[in-house]
Amino acid sequence: ESYDMGGHDTYMHKEIAEQAEAVDRVLRGRIDDRFATVHLGGLNLEPGEARRVRRIKILGCGTSYHAGQIGAQLIEELARIPSDAEPASEFRYRNPVVDPDTLYVAVSQSGETYDVLAAVQELKRKGARVLGVVNVVGSAIAREADGGTYVHAGPEVCVVSTKCFTNTVVAFALLALHLGRIRDLSVSDGKRIIEGLRRLPGQIDEILKTEPEIKKLAREYADAKSMLFIGRVRGYPVAREASLKLKEVSYIHAEAYPASELKHGPLALIEPAMPTVAIVPDDDLLEKNRAALEEIKARSGRILAVAHQVQEKADHTIVVPKNEDELDPILMGIPLQLFAYHTALALGRDIDKPRNLAKSVTVE
Ligand code: AGP
Repeated sequence: ESYDMGGHDTYMHKEIAEQAEAVDRVLRGRIDDRFATVHLGGLNLEPGEARRVRRIKILGCGTSYHAGQIGAQLIEELARIPSDAEPASEFRYRNPVVDPDTLYVAVSQSGETYDVLAAVQELKRKGARVLGVVNVVGSAIAREADGGTYVHAGPEVCVVSTKCFTNTVVAFALLALHLGRIRDLSVSDGKRIIEGLRRLPGQIDEILKTEPEIKKLAREYADAKSMLFIGRVRGYPVAREASLKLKEVSYIHAEAYPASELKHGPLALIEPAMPTVAIVPDDDLLEKNRAALEEIKARSGRILAVAHQVQEKADHTIVVPKNEDELDPILMGIPLQLFAYHTALALGRDIDKPRNLAKSVTVE
């Protein structure tokens, strides 16, 4: 590869380190303080059309699908449009009902993932409006979509996606804010979100400075054969993405569950050899999440929390800076990218090219 490594040993580490800069890029030139909104040039969606959208369906694969899950929550919260994300690979095989009042959003780093492209082509054939949230400019999905927004993460070389995940979620926050301000989001809430977005690059740098501590933790947990990742509502897609990251790069089995579902089954797995990574934001679900930690501790489970304050029931807490509740998921996954990286390093894995995986799956 011809990209400058900038003193990093792997592209994964380089790309994790580039995130503050990348987020700055996706925000640049888009914020309109006067109307407390953002402008997304290529969206190709008039305000009247945006008001008529009754549902949003987001389609992507792997990490992009997880970014889409956070995106769907952001759109529901800020624009109050019912939204959900589905793996494009599933959607295209189930003869979905294509609804004219639904706006479809295809999300992809490469813009070449065959399952996503095939879903977009099928939707277009049936007359649906499809937007793209894509990183690679001029890629097949970007060309096929009716409009959309670029993610501006810059080139991502490591097979395992990190900075593009973060930037994609920020791009969804921009889309949600844009749609929200056309619909019912107040000026003051618009301003609150804009201020939160502006704080992100500095907060990402703060998180990256905790790398030595995360490295120690990764070494401590690297002997696990399997790990459980839990989160609730906003924290759940963060847990899913963190669990995917760990399994892709370290080959440790990891499973993500909503913390609310623990008592419906996964509690049976808890014992000292099965650590749990818990996403515990300081939001209206804090007490519920703490109760889940208690349940795990009562069964002698080891807990690593990612939280806004030290969690008493956890064996270790990675403390991350607090943003607006809606934007917290953007930050909470970042220490777990470093955790996956250092776990893989401790286990001697091929970090930039994990076995059996390709950066972009362009075939059936
Ligand atoms: C990322 O860590 C993965 N290698 C993978 O899940 C990826 O996100 C997926 O294949 C989709 O790729 P895309 O974003 O380029 O469409």
